[in-house]
Amino acid sequence: MTSSPALAKTAARLAGAGCVFAAEEARLLIDNADGPDELAALVSRRVSGEPLEHILGWVEFDGLHLRVGPGTFVPRQRSLFVAALAVAEARSRNGCLVLEMCSGVAPIAAVVARDVPGARVVASDRGASAEYARANVPAAAVYVGDLFEALPDELRGTVGVLAAVPPYVPDDAAGQLPREAREFEPSEALLGGHDGLAIVRRILCDAPGWLDDASVVLLEMHRSQTAAAAVEAAACGFSAEAVASPDEQTAVLRCTAPSQ
Ligand SMILES: C[S@@+](CC[C@H](N)C(=O)[O-])C[C@H]1O[C@@H](n2cnc3c(N)ncnc32)[C@H](O)[C@@H]1O
Repeated sequence: MTSSPALAKTAARLAGAGCVFAAEEARLLIDNADGPDELAALVSRRVSGEPLEHILGWVEFDGLHLRVGPGTFVPRQRSLFVAALAVAEARSRNGCLVLEMCSGVAPIAAVVARDVPGARVVASDRGASAEYARANVPAAAVYVGDLFEALPDELRGTVGVLAAVPPYVPDDAAGQLPREAREFEPSEALLGGHDGLAIVRRILCDAPGWLDDASVVLLEMHRSQTAAAAVEAAACGFSAEAVASPDEQTAVLRCTAPSQ
């Protein structure tokens, strides 16, 4: 099924449905399909708007092939930035506990587990992504539940690096999301309340009881949200600075205890 007529036909169908990288996607779908009938089914799913990554069952993230599937949030390439910051912070805290909260399929945990051999890595999320997270980071403990309620008590006071890509789209901006996200990713993975900061606020307020003495909290958000989030962080006892991402849209709020 890798003949150029099949490739051209598939690419034309995908381009007609609005796929920007139609030729590349056609090649991936052809490579993934076991014969013409399966290819036709995969192409139909893609034409209906389903994310390519859900159909393929994987997404490439910093050289890792992470498992994803229907109903999961697909890690975005912009989150390579917060993952790299988490790696740097974990390296400077030798052997510390790294928690990816709101972890989905656990891309940050996966990169830290690969790049910081001494780190202990845990992930938590309340959505239905735990089986993917466990497959993507076999060395990590993966907890399921609402924010810190998911964690066992013995982790209190032990987290050295808390990194998260929480849902941060304001509710009234839901209509501006791409169709793939709106229709195929869970809204609880995307929407963060009236100003997008509802989950950020809850993480900042509840984090102190779970952190160790030299900890750092790294939260990805839109750049327009960092000033308001820094005020929230200060109210919860943190010093906060916004670190701009190269994507020119997002930033990471880096929060530490005031004494650091
Ligand atoms: C934007 S996704 C990020 C997932 C992953 N970190 C990534 O970058 O691919 C946000 C995640 O937060 C989770 N989430 C939302 N509200 C939550 C809550 N109250 N407790 C735990 N997880 C929550 C969602 O299930 C979703 O997986």
